[in-house]
Amino acid sequence: MSKKRALVVGASSGIGREISRQLIQSGWTVAAVARRKDKLQTLADEFPGQLQPVVHDVQETDAIPEVFAKICHNLGGLDLVIYAAGVMPPVGPHEFDTEKDLEIVQTNLIGAIAWLNEAASRFDKTGHGTIVGIGSVAGDRGRSGQPVYNTSKAALATYLEALRNRLAKRGVKVTTIKPGPVQTEMTQHLGLKGAMTASEAARRTLILADRGGEHYLSAKHRFAFFIIKRIPSPIFRRLSV
Ligand SMILES: NC(=O)c1ccc[n+]([C@@H]2O[C@H](COP(=O)([O-])OP(=O)(O)OC[C@H]3O[C@@H](n4cnc5c(N)ncnc54)[C@H](OP(=O)(O)O)[C@@H]3O)[C@@H](O)[C@H]2O)c1
Repeated sequence: MSKKRALVVGASSGIGREISRQLIQSGWTVAAVARRKDKLQTLADEFPGQLQPVVHDVQETDAIPEVFAKICHNLGGLDLVIYAAGVMPPVGPHEFDTEKDLEIVQTNLIGAIAWLNEAASRFDKTGHGTIVGIGSVAGDRGRSGQPVYNTSKAALATYLEALRNRLAKRGVKVTTIKPGPVQTEMTQHLGLKGAMTASEAARRTLILADRGGEHYLSAKHRFAFFIIKRIPSPIFRRLSV
């Protein structure tokens, strides 16, 4: 059987890097997209000839159609696209910084739409392929701590649901992954206790990738967020969940 080909956006660290590693260890060829060339090159050096580093800033949406086409050409096709790029800068309780907020939306949502539209258009034509977006449990409610990060993940989940409904007839799977806390560069300043490792989050993501639909990465979160989503807003405001 010929090698399967994946594109991972946000592959230079954390969950995306572990997903790239585990795909290659399972025999895939991977195009790994991110801004930091040195990190991508270190990853490529681990897997000579199996990982193509692609330096790109997802905020440069105009460049995406050409970069996407080049990746498909270089890989000789495409079977799986995973959008893992994301930012969650610290936000103070009295901070309302539009520049920072737009950066979050550009990276977590607009970049995802621009990359995944390319994937959707290709897979719609070929009737083959899987799309995975890394959302978050944070998108399930509007919390006071990270208003725009929450918003970006809620909107991403809605966009992915719509893609899933569009592409189902073509046999294309669209999967939303909602991790809880994971130990990565994004969360290192939070000193998370009991958080999942990036490697475990990647392992669980790849098990779920082909299933389509929305998935939490643990039964605990599936149960907790079933309830949290249903708490009336005035009560939710007084809780710290
Ligand atoms: N860690 C958690 O607790 C947690 C929980 C739920 C969901 N998530 C989600 O999981 C995904 C991965 O995050 P992570 O925790 O693995 O964090 P991470 O280690 O900080 O990884 C983020 C990745 O996104 C890339 N990225 C950020 N801005 C980019 C840009 N403008 N252009 C291209 N690539 C960009 C980074 O690469 P460069 O900096 O090299 O560009 C990096 O590869 C994110 O969507 C995050 O929201 C994380």
